[in-house]
Amino acid sequence: MNTTRRLAEKLISEQLRAPGFAFVPGRQIREDLPAGDADWHRFAAHWDDLVLDPYIGSAGSDQFRYRRYGRFALRRQPSGAGLPVTLTALPVRPFVQEAEHVGRYEGRARQLEPATEAFLEDPLLHALIAYDHAVLPEPPEVCEVGLHAIRVKVTPSLDARPTPEGRHRDGHDFIAMHLIGKNDCSGGESLVYEQGTGNPACIARLTLADPLDTLVVDDSLVEHEVTRLEPGGTEGNRDVLLVAFYPLAS
Ligand SMILES: [Fe+2]
Repeated sequence: MNTTRRLAEKLISEQLRAPGFAFVPGRQIREDLPAGDADWHRFAAHWDDLVLDPYIGSAGSDQFRYRRYGRFALRRQPSGAGLPVTLTALPVRPFVQEAEHVGRYEGRARQLEPATEAFLEDPLLHALIAYDHAVLPEPPEVCEVGLHAIRVKVTPSLDARPTPEGRHRDGHDFIAMHLIGKNDCSGGESLVYEQGTGNPACIARLTLADPLDTLVVDDSLVEHEVTRLEPGGTEGNRDVLLVAFYPLAS
């Protein structure tokens, strides 16, 4: 690994310690990972294969979110052993977020459609997770990785809110939010807040605009939210990959 990349990782790690979030330009990730435009196009095509999220809206025109969910067990490898982590797919189980973090779902278990094998086996997915793991302040030897591939559809008749729950934390340790693509829509500003009750201060506003633009947060230190998307034409979309890190369940 080159010195520039090591310095970049160190800087991101330091920002995650304080103030608790870091923005990584997509250009930097594309330079750091051994992949070309054709690889990234193939990777982005997985987002054309998502399914309707039944927990948003009711059947009909107010359903705007499509997603799939996957889980990996991550184990760090000795240096010089190829990819610095191994990822073993885990069976999908109902997805639960504590009501204290995301009140909208009241702690209910959500049955999300599993990620496809093609997605879970995509070498770019593995490389991206390894990249995210490397920038954590103290990358764990072993952890679980939760994957959420999400598309928000944007049309003039949809109230396309990437985070309908508003300001929240996810209940994980760290989350890397990667923009995969954003087409024919505007808005979708990412807001980062200090953790706290009442009206905690908004400490950052930024918009993931280019492919692979990434916001990484320490979920124990900050809360986050993404503003409404506005259509640019008859139909647009915003595709993201959320990579969440938390202890491996025994
Ligand atoms: Fe979230």
